[in-house]
Amino acid sequence: MAFFVCKNCGFGSASWYGKCPDCGKWNTLTERPDFAKSSTSKKKEGLKRISITPFKKIKTQDKTRIKTGIFEFDRVLGGGFIPGEVVLLTGEPGIGKSTLVLQALKDIKTLYISGEESGEQVKNRADRLGIKLDNFLFSNDLQAEGIIESVSEMKDQIDVVVIDSIQTIYSKDIEGATASISQLKEVTKLLVTFAKKNNLAIVLIGHITKEGEIAGPKSLEHFVDCVLNFEGEKVSNYRLIRTSKNRFGGTDEIGIFEMTGSGLKEIDNPLVFLEGKKSLEPGKAIVGVAEGKRSLFFEIQTLAVPTVLAVPRRVVKGFDYNKVLLLLAVTRKNLNLSLDNFDIYVNVIGGVSIKGTSADLGLIAALISSFKNIPLPSSTLFIGEVGLLGEIRNTYFEEKIISEGKRLGFKKIYSSKNISSVKQFRSLI
Ligand code: TYD
Ligand code: MG
Repeated sequence: MAFFVCKNCGFGSASWYGKCPDCGKWNTLTERPDFAKSSTSKKKEGLKRISITPFKKIKTQDKTRIKTGIFEFDRVLGGGFIPGEVVLLTGEPGIGKSTLVLQALKDIKTLYISGEESGEQVKNRADRLGIKLDNFLFSNDLQAEGIIESVSEMKDQIDVVVIDSIQTIYSKDIEGATASISQLKEVTKLLVTFAKKNNLAIVLIGHITKEGEIAGPKSLEHFVDCVLNFEGEKVSNYRLIRTSKNRFGGTDEIGIFEMTGSGLKEIDNPLVFLEGKKSLEPGKAIVGVAEGKRSLFFEIQTLAVPTVLAVPRRVVKGFDYNKVLLLLAVTRKNLNLSLDNFDIYVNVIGGVSIKGTSADLGLIAALISSFKNIPLPSSTLFIGEVGLLGEIRNTYFEEKIISEGKRLGFKKIYSSKNISSVKQFRSLI
């Protein structure tokens, strides 16, 4: 293709003009026959051809999983670690992340890099947990490039590298302070590339604050293969691990633990989050929820008290805040029950948050119960998602939760099977 350039102003065009449209001079456009060629060769500098392979020729590796000693942990990983996998384990400080990795990796060849604790502290904790650290190597050195260089020299002695925490690691090539977003991203990228190249599993521990939304670990989620969130409250002993991303397994798994004097214990009982099945105080309801592939039973407590404020308070813990507002609106519309002049407090016992959708019905029942100051009948279970129109929706796994509820001795079970709209709660008011 021909290309014409104005000798006067440098204007370029694919067609010839007698008068340059840019500077207005006559007879200045001349043809540059070599333009196309030279520009292509320039573009080719630094160009890297992509390599293309037919899928037929790609072999799927039957990657052997590295199983940890803890079933509940393997479950959320999708069956164990995969060599080359990078797992981000997040949670509030003090929730039990370091304890979990020590317990889970005790039989695996592990390099534990800690910017949080000294070797003595880690060893002390292991002693308390009754764990022998014979398979563990330890380091307090925190430069990402240094870690990579050293680990690549002793790859065959290590299957898993634990970085506790990613916020303490820095790259020599980045100016920002440790734990700044640019540092976090750079060191994570370096470690992820290293893990993939060397088929090494890496666990990155990341602190999050109570609000859970601190930019740090959140911004790393798309670099890693698996994100595990450790939740619970320090005052309560129960802990949940949820998978929020997993390239090598499902994301609908949860692991349940109890923090005891001798470390984390696995729990498989779906009733752990109840203080007692008998619901005898006003404002309290038991809900059945599918969390991951499990049915769990939670106690929701609500308190509706007349407000003294111009704008009443809504304080919600363990439940989606906006969902509570929506359910209040549904209650007002369908039951003619306005809680506009009441402060509302909602709490889920056990310090965990309900992510499943079938707790809505129970929340409404608990609110009515608190408002009326009448306890809900004992041994009653609520399962159901409530729609904007007040309709009760069938929920994921409903049958399973119902049969589990029956097995556990709940006498009355409200669900989409026997109630179709919150309007039917009129009899409760
Ligand atoms: P830790 O694993 O240090 O938390 P993280 O790494 O998430 O900051 O756990 C700290 C808390 O766990 C600490 O407050 C004490 C408690 N804990 C127990 O209750 N029992 C135990 O056996 C251990 C080791 C810790
Ligand atoms: Mg720790």
